[in-house]
Amino acid sequence: MTNARIVERPTLTDDALNTLFSSSWDRHERRPFGAVLAHSLTYLAAYDHEKLVGFVNVAWDGGVHAFLLDPTVLPSHRRRGVGTALVKAAARAASLRGAEWLHVDYVPDLEPFYASVGFETSRAGILRLRGDEAAE
Ligand SMILES: CC(C)(COP(=O)(O)OP(=O)(O)OC[C@H]1O[C@@H](n2cnc3c(N)ncnc32)[C@H](O)[C@@H]1OP(=O)(O)O)[C@@H](O)C(=O)NCCC(=O)NCCS
Repeated sequence: MTNARIVERPTLTDDALNTLFSSSWDRHERRPFGAVLAHSLTYLAAYDHEKLVGFVNVAWDGGVHAFLLDPTVLPSHRRRGVGTALVKAAARAASLRGAEWLHVDYVPDLEPFYASVGFETSRAGILRLRGDEAAE
């Protein structure tokens, strides 16, 4: 069980999010988050005291489908239930905001994580539109 405090829609600066992401994701490139979060159904952050240690964004289609994006926990705070608490809180928040389905895609290694939070597997696809491996 985590001691992290989960907060829905806190004020988050680009600096705080880029610091979290650059410590948590390989090859993170600094980016502005404001325009993305402005379109979110909701987003949540995890704090250890005042330190930002986790984040998850919930995008949506304007209807009943919500999409879990960028679940992130600082490496120093992993395997303590922070990710689980964030995703469960995101699911509750999305449901309260009218979503009926919560989608996520992930690499196979993370199946135990998503299964432990209650996700069932379903076939899904993803198409890279830009970058070296982009589809023609
Ligand atoms: C994925 C991530 C958010 C998980 O956060 P976390 O706080 O460590 O997750 P939890 O502590 O709640 O894990 C709960 C359970 O999920 C499973 N789990 C968590 N991380 C796992 C991993 N990397 N591989 C396999 N199983 C994992 C375990 O069963 C774990 O329970 P245990 O610690 O008792 O074995 C975190 O590893 C992360 O930020 N990774 C880098 C970014 C990323 O890849 N995000 C997901 C994008 S789809």
